[in-house]
Amino acid sequence: MTPILDVRNLSIDYLANGIALHAVEDINFQINKGRSLALVGESGCGKTTTMLSLLRLLPAEGRIVSGKIIYAGTDLLSLSEVQMREYRWNRMAIVFQGAMNALNPVQRISDQIAESIMRQPHTRVSRKQALSQVGDLIEIVGIPEDRARQYPHQFSGGMRQRAMIAMALACKPDILIADEPTTALDVMIQAQILSLLQSLQRDLGLAVLLVTHDLGVVAEVCDDVLVMYGGKVAEYGTVDEIFNNPCHPYTQRLLEAFPDVNNPTAALASIPGHPPALDEIPLGCRFEPRCHLRTEICKSVSPTARDHNPGHIVACHHAE
Ligand SMILES: Nc1ncnc2c1ncn2[C@@H]1O[C@H](COP(=O)(O)OP(=O)(O)OP(=O)(O)O)[C@@H](O)[C@H]1O
Ligand SMILES: [Mg+2]
Repeated sequence: MTPILDVRNLSIDYLANGIALHAVEDINFQINKGRSLALVGESGCGKTTTMLSLLRLLPAEGRIVSGKIIYAGTDLLSLSEVQMREYRWNRMAIVFQGAMNALNPVQRISDQIAESIMRQPHTRVSRKQALSQVGDLIEIVGIPEDRARQYPHQFSGGMRQRAMIAMALACKPDILIADEPTTALDVMIQAQILSLLQSLQRDLGLAVLLVTHDLGVVAEVCDDVLVMYGGKVAEYGTVDEIFNNPCHPYTQRLLEAFPDVNNPTAALASIPGHPPALDEIPLGCRFEPRCHLRTEICKSVSPTARDHNPGHIVACHHAE
């Protein structure tokens, strides 16, 4: 099956005071229709940067320095900005990190969703037509009809997140990117949003790209997982494979940091230290300073990502 999105050797820099900081380096991943891929890793590992680049929405100081972003056979990086508008929102839509707090406070939710519908290029949709389509969208995301005419302050966090998802779905994309959609929500609401994403994937055949730092979320809703560390791929494969057979010491430590229902009294592990700042990236493996398996080679040679098993990729000198 040809992936709907195929990201190849993607590298992204931020320019700061004339210096190029390598935020993302040589990332590869694919996603098929009707599948979900989680991007996980600690704060600052480049999750949001990667997702923004897919829609070519990086801030002015961000630069895609190499790689390909192939959507259904077309490299989005080869398109002009005008051509790119055909793809952004229509084919691939994003719920930005923290966006539920950025709803317009003085506009009704239904009007805000209608505006997203009117954003569709080429199909001239009147305000009246758009408002009539709002009903379908709010039904899909589970907002009761009588609530749609309310204002954002009358919505709970979970309802606001549903409204954001409705807006992202307004142009009927094939790929939905959700950047930490459940962070700052309580566990019950979190479960509801996750099951909504799952049903969109199942019922609408959407490809879902979920950004999170919560492995519990990944285990619950995703098919595949890409573990990032310091802007690079640490490990990549199906959720079953990565959770049952984690090979990168970073993934192993991340998994140990989560409670195990079969062994609830076990102490949770933590990973001492912190990910490297972009201006002090180690020469060799980026995880080396925090790794319990490190040897001399890890200090000087950056490990290349390679197949551990078919479809299970790991970048570690000691993955065996
Ligand atoms: N506009 C910017 N200019 C310079 N550096 C930036 C900019 N935006 C992000 N960075 C840096 O790029 C790196 C990756 O940031 P990014 O926001 O992609 O991380 P993240 O994995 O999404 O983190 P979080 O989990 O906190 O959302 C970080 O080191 C960050 O400081
Ligand atoms: Mg982020």
